[in-house]
Amino acid sequence: MRFDVLTLFPEIFSGYMTQSLLKLAIERSLVSIELHNIRDWSRDKHKCVDDRPFGGGPGMVFKPEPVVEAVEAVQKQALENNEALKKNEALENEEDSEPGHLVLLTPQGRPLNQPLVEELATHSRLLLLCGRYEGFDQRVSDLLEPDEISIGDFVLNGGEVAAMTLIDAVIRLVPGVLGDEDSSRYDSFSSVGRLLEHAQYTRPREYRGLEVPEVLLSGDHTAIAKWREENSQERTRQRRPDLFNENE
Ligand code: ADE
Repeated sequence: MRFDVLTLFPEIFSGYMTQSLLKLAIERSLVSIELHNIRDWSRDKHKCVDDRPFGGGPGMVFKPEPVVEAVEAVQKQALENNEALKKNEALENEEDSEPGHLVLLTPQGRPLNQPLVEELATHSRLLLLCGRYEGFDQRVSDLLEPDEISIGDFVLNGGEVAAMTLIDAVIRLVPGVLGDEDSSRYDSFSSVGRLLEHAQYTRPREYRGLEVPEVLLSGDHTAIAKWREENSQERTRQRRPDLFNENE
């Protein structure tokens, strides 16, 4: 799966991309992340990409030209790569010939949740557009018609952390990225059961007077599965009654 990230701050991603699961996934060619600096598409001699809002008001707005032209250039590049791959008959799937699904990270988008993560993971290529300032000139959305996505009802300083969050959730569903193929299916909110995950314990058996529930030490797999299911339901009922009611 390929991600193209369009941002003013590509360096924000470097630490994230060189650690842990994502680092391994990139090394194994399961995931690739290409970073594009929107400023490279500025026509201004000072490389300016923002301006004051018409009608007044605080803050600055992302100008439409560098953003639209950056996205179009990345989409064109994607189509050209696909053509080259097709010639080599390496591209079998029709869906792969898309220029990539364009996502704009904004607090005004549809909320990111596990079903949406699952939907995004069906694409072989995602283009993630990260905002800054007071947002984009409206014509960016009017022209490009991106899938606008929010990671929650709060305002971040920009879309970069939101893009990393989305990438982090999506790559867990890319086959081979997690060691154990089944583990993402049993996460909280997975499509197997939309409940919170049950409590987990490891050694020691007793810590500061708190003991691991006896059933987990019993070796009785039926009893363990029953305990986990009940614990999962109880947690969901207590912590997220909204989800619990959805499941009923
Ligand atoms: N940019 C700023 N805040 C955001 C949010 N909550 N979700 C996605 N992108 C954002």
